[in-house]
Amino acid sequence: MKILILGVNGFIGNHLTERILSEEDWEVFGMDLADDKLGALLTNPRFHFVEGDITINHEWIAYHIRKCDVVLPLVAIATPATYVSDPLRVFELDFEANLDVIRKTVLYKKRLVFPSTSEVYGMCQEEAFDEETSLFVVGPINKQRWIYSCCKQLIDRIVYAYGLRDNLEYTLFRPFNFIGPKLDTIQEPKEGSARSVAQFISNILHTGEIKLVDGGQQHRCFTYVDDGIDALMRIIRNRDGCASRRIFNIGNPKNDVSVKVLAEKIVAAAKNYPKIADLAHRTKITSVPASAYYGESYQDTSRRVPSIKNAQQYLGWTPTTSLDNALKQTLDFYFA
Ligand code: UGA
Repeated sequence: MKILILGVNGFIGNHLTERILSEEDWEVFGMDLADDKLGALLTNPRFHFVEGDITINHEWIAYHIRKCDVVLPLVAIATPATYVSDPLRVFELDFEANLDVIRKTVLYKKRLVFPSTSEVYGMCQEEAFDEETSLFVVGPINKQRWIYSCCKQLIDRIVYAYGLRDNLEYTLFRPFNFIGPKLDTIQEPKEGSARSVAQFISNILHTGEIKLVDGGQQHRCFTYVDDGIDALMRIIRNRDGCASRRIFNIGNPKNDVSVKVLAEKIVAAAKNYPKIADLAHRTKITSVPASAYYGESYQDTSRRVPSIKNAQQYLGWTPTTSLDNALKQTLDFYFA
């Protein structure tokens, strides 16, 4: 199989490429703006990397969609601080640039595996979010945080419609707070430059202060990246068409914690690593209003739990990594 991964140096892209090259005899063609997370993969003869920008290199992309069997367009802005600071960039990249890739995938009749998001459910109040029945609940237009959710939701609807009208072979997957090594940079101390787990590790290293937005009472189900990649491998293998024209929540309902507990766990775990133990002991956990941290156009969801019955039933997938173990693996990567 030949796989095209756009955004191959990103969090999901680089972990997925590593797994594909170690478990299968497939070839991976990848494009990204940089290659710093790819390390030794770059010398693998079955990996073909090109440095480039998907908003510019249209011909390369068209050529490689034709050449490959499966297309994974993983390029997106996925840090909430950017949804509110630069919403039009989110629209242009996450929606417009990806729609162009999707249209070419339809044109050349290739299989599409596309990242939707847990954020499409917005502030849904249901106990566990279901791919077929849950309501999508977002805030007013002046709460610009939801532009990411809306971009992804509209793409989901477009992909679904291409499936019906043009027989597009697709799978939509919805990651629920994937975490692990190389999530976002831990070297940038600026607030909001990384998603929570990477931000908190960065805070321990650089500022000595973890700021909990509104006290950190919000809950998330943190999912270890290796578990998520396991689900993606099953989707790409697509045995007997098990993933065809389906949507899958990929998350770990057992790792449901408040952001406050997450921060406490990270600080406690960091104390076990000599390289950062002193810094962890000195780190304070404080609270800050959401408006002070992200600005007025931010709005959050208080909880977000996936139903994973589709993934269990059709992919035979169940996540196995506890939050404590996921945090340990992450900290080991940087500090062991
Ligand atoms: C994320 C992002 O939108 C995407 O990466 C993705 O689509 C999706 O959710 C996902 O990974 O499932 P969110 O869960 O809000 O959104 O991302 P984080 O930045 O990890 O924030 C989690 C919670 O921690 C939020 O309530 C946030 O306010 C809080 N937080 C974050 C803090 O309290 N302090 C911080 O310094 C950073």
